[in-house]
Amino acid sequence: MLIAITGTPGTGKTELGKKLGESGRNVIFLNEFIKENGLLDEYDEDRDSYDVDTDKLNEALKEYRDAGTPYYAEGHLSHFLESSKIIVLRCSPKVLAKRLEKRNYSESKVKENVQAEILDVILCESVSSDIPVYELDSTSRTVDELFESIIDIEKNQGDYRPGKVDWTGEMEEWF
Ligand SMILES: Nc1ncnc2c1ncn2[C@@H]1O[C@H](COP(=O)(O)OP(=O)(O)O)[C@@H](O)[C@H]1O
Ligand SMILES: [Mg+2]
Repeated sequence: MLIAITGTPGTGKTELGKKLGESGRNVIFLNEFIKENGLLDEYDEDRDSYDVDTDKLNEALKEYRDAGTPYYAEGHLSHFLESSKIIVLRCSPKVLAKRLEKRNYSESKVKENVQAEILDVILCESVSSDIPVYELDSTSRTVDELFESIIDIEKNQGDYRPGKVDWTGEMEEWF
């Protein structure tokens, strides 16, 4: 079973993935996995990033999907993969911008990602599949608190249905 952890860059996927790894869970860090397995496709000049062939990635992940134990797969493309659950991390525009600035993202890249977060791009892509989607707001929650929510989701407890987050109030600042 594969469980996707997705979200706009800066929402905390990798930090949560590390925490899940420390707890003894199996975690696939997709950025690394893609590089290690030579799954990078064409370089996309406009986006300054490499395209990834989802079919090839799905194929490469087959053994983990078919394994008896769950595997978490973190990455901003993970919701395009065949998985059993999709967990979408969210973050409010102001906090997200701060996190991305700290990462030395250019002003335009910060803006592009904040706009995508406000427009729920990844959430919309996620819910357009038949896979159950869970939404976790990381804005003012520590990695440990987010981990508690993952345990809830594993036990089918709590209400993490998407739609509670709404950043449209901050739209004017960013568009
Ligand atoms: N729950 C959190 N609370 C506060 N800061 C966080 C949290 N999760 C991640 N961060 C910080 O935000 C930045 C982006 O986190 P990261 O896990 O790399 O995001 P992603 O993998 O989604 O791009 C890092 O500086 C990280 O320390
Ligand atoms: Mg990451």
